[in-house]
Amino acid sequence: MTPITVAAAFKVTIILLEVQTTVSEIFKVLSPDTPIIVSLGETAVLPCYLSPSTNAEDMMVRWFRSKFSFTVHLYQNRKNIGLQIPKYQNRTSFNTSLIADGKVSLSIHSIAPSDEGSYTCLFQSLSFYDAADLELKVSALGSGPTIFIEEHQDGHLRAVCKSYGWYPKPVVYWKDENEHIIHPLTVAQSQNALSLFDVEMILALDSKSNRRLSCVIRHGFLEQELKSTIQIADSMFLRVSRCVISRILMGTSFILIFLATVLLAFYTCFMQQKKIGKLMNENSK
Ligand SMILES: *[C@@H]1O[C@H](CO)[C@@H](O)[C@H](O)[C@H]1NC(C)=O
Ligand SMILES: *[C@@H]1O[C@H](CO)[C@@H](O)[C@H](O)[C@H]1NC(C)=O
Repeated sequence: MTPITVAAAFKVTIILLEVQTTVSEIFKVLSPDTPIIVSLGETAVLPCYLSPSTNAEDMMVRWFRSKFSFTVHLYQNRKNIGLQIPKYQNRTSFNTSLIADGKVSLSIHSIAPSDEGSYTCLFQSLSFYDAADLELKVSALGSGPTIFIEEHQDGHLRAVCKSYGWYPKPVVYWKDENEHIIHPLTVAQSQNALSLFDVEMILALDSKSNRRLSCVIRHGFLEQELKSTIQIADSMFLRVSRCVISRILMGTSFILIFLATVLLAFYTCFMQQKKIGKLMNENSK
C-alpha cells in the first residue's frame, strides 16, 4: 500500500465511524402542533417523543416554560428530580412506561388559567439534545346567564344579564327574536380571584324595544354558547310610563307651587309698599 492509499482508507474509516455515531445519537423531539385544551381543574397531558424511536431511559428530560430555569419537571439518572418552581411542586407526574421507545408524557394536575401558555420539552443525551414546544390552553364554561329587568334612576327600564366563571374572555351580545344582534349599553367583564371572567351586560329599553330578548355568552374558542331569553310584558312599560308621568306631574307641581310662592311674595310686598305710600301720603297732608 502506498502512503496515499493508507491515508485515504483511514479517512474513509473515520467518515464511516462518524456516520455511525451520528445515526445512533441524532434524534428529533416531536410534540403535538395543535394546542392542548384542558378544562379548568382537570389534568393536562403533554406528550413528547423522539423520532426516530430512541431509548431515552438514560437521557435527561426537562420540561420548562419561557425560560430554562422555570422548570416544570426534571427527569435525570432514571429518577424524577424535584427541582421545580414552587407552582408545579406536587402537581406533575411523568409517565415513563414507553420511555424505552422514546415516548413520554407529563401530566399537570389541577389546571388553572395561570398554567396557560407554551411549554418546552428537552431531551438530552451525553452528546446530543433537541427540544420541542407545545401550547396549553385553559378553558372554562361559565354559569348560564341570568336576566333581570331593573328601573334605572332616570326612570327608564334596563335589561341586565349576568354570568360568571368564563375562561378565556367570552363573546357576549343581546339578540332579538329575529336573531338580530342588539348593541348593549354597557359590557363589563372583570376577572375574579381565580382569574375567571364574570360578565355584566346592560341594555337600555324603551317602549319600542323588542319584547323578546336573549342574552348570549359564547366561549372564546370552543363552539359552545349559553343563552337565556326573557319576554318583557307591555305592562312593564305602562307602569314605567305611569311612573314617569307622575314624576313629571310632581315636577310640574313643584314649579307651580314655587311660582305661586314667588307671586304671593311679590304681591305682599307690592301691597305693603302701597300701604306705606298711602300712610306717607296721609301724613304729609
Ligand atoms: C409538596 O409536598 C411536600 C410533601 O408532601 C410538602 O412538604 C411541600 O410543601 C409541598 N409543596 C407545595 C408547593 O405544595
Ligand atoms: C402512561 O402512558 C401509556 C402509554 O401512552 C398509557 O397507556 C398509560 O395509561 C399511562 N399511564 C398513566 C398512569 O397515565
